[in-house]
Amino acid sequence: MKDYKLAIVGATGVVGRMILKVLEEKHLPIASYVLFASKRSCGTKFPFMGKVYEVQELTENSFEEGFDFAIFSAGAKTAEKFAPIAASKGCIVVDNSSAFRMEENVPLVVPEVNREEIKKHKGIIANPNCSTIQAVVALKPLDEKYHIKRIVYSTYQAVSGAGLKGIVDLENGIHAFESKQDYSLQKFPYPIFNNCLPHIDVFLENSYTKEEEKMINETRKILKRPNLPITATAVRVPVLNSHSEAINVEFEKDFVLADLVSTLQNSPSIIVQDAIQHNLYPLANNATGHDEVFVGRIRRDYSVKSGVNLWVVADNIRKGAASNAVQIVEKLIEEKNF
Ligand code: A2P
Repeated sequence: MKDYKLAIVGATGVVGRMILKVLEEKHLPIASYVLFASKRSCGTKFPFMGKVYEVQELTENSFEEGFDFAIFSAGAKTAEKFAPIAASKGCIVVDNSSAFRMEENVPLVVPEVNREEIKKHKGIIANPNCSTIQAVVALKPLDEKYHIKRIVYSTYQAVSGAGLKGIVDLENGIHAFESKQDYSLQKFPYPIFNNCLPHIDVFLENSYTKEEEKMINETRKILKRPNLPITATAVRVPVLNSHSEAINVEFEKDFVLADLVSTLQNSPSIIVQDAIQHNLYPLANNATGHDEVFVGRIRRDYSVKSGVNLWVVADNIRKGAASNAVQIVEKLIEEKNF
């Protein structure tokens, strides 16, 4: 078995740091790692895999030394510039940004849902948006069994999804509330503390946000249902980590609720937490630190012929980003070795 070489681009960010943690947990057959970030972080030291790694500045020559894989988590602009350079040197890139997700030749992969797409890559594989990943893990088995007719997404998204500056805005808001002092916002257009902002990513001409559009388009691509009617409202809430989503789904086929619940229970990476008599339902606090997608509040939608409401919660930095990307690398290694 070959020992591989992996680059982590954006290693100093919220997702980048989690990638390092997940890699430490997974023990993949990777012999060497190089940590990249911008010039600002050059020389920053990170303890990783029992050693101390110095962060290197990402440049156009960074991939000359030969990498098997790179996980990029440094935003769309950095990916647009550097991922094609890496791929041209024979390195397979797994990119967390939105730069390539909707490109036809770029697989958009959640391994539990569409692992078969991985082998179609031409050097770049895209990691979907965090809100989409947790949704499709829950929806795929239901689509297979009952054929989804329409989806309505309403999200309650944690500040960690907006990177370090998003976390700082919430923490500063809490301290300012306690100390009754002013503070300046670093990420959001309004205070996130004690607020819900129906505004994630930029507004588009059709009045949706880009986050909402990403959920719609990426779900269609991953489920291979290009014309599936989907609508979405994405909201940032004052939660540090883990996204929650209310998902309303309408089906073509009828279902028995107990069968639908057991379908979810028997599907990969799903934990059903649904015992309302004990106040048991998925919570952001409990999902944090886990790679599974938690599903609860499963109840029939009586307003349509065949529909269900779900409450879906997952750690947006782990399954929504870092763990999914590392899982893709794991599958790439499995496919190279067998
Ligand atoms: P840096 O820390 O040097 O700015 P987050 O979204 O949590 O803020 O993280 C963004 C990540 O992307 C960071 O690791 C950041 O590095 C990295 N990054 C941003 N711009 C570049 C760039 N031009 N080249 C390489 N890494 C970049």
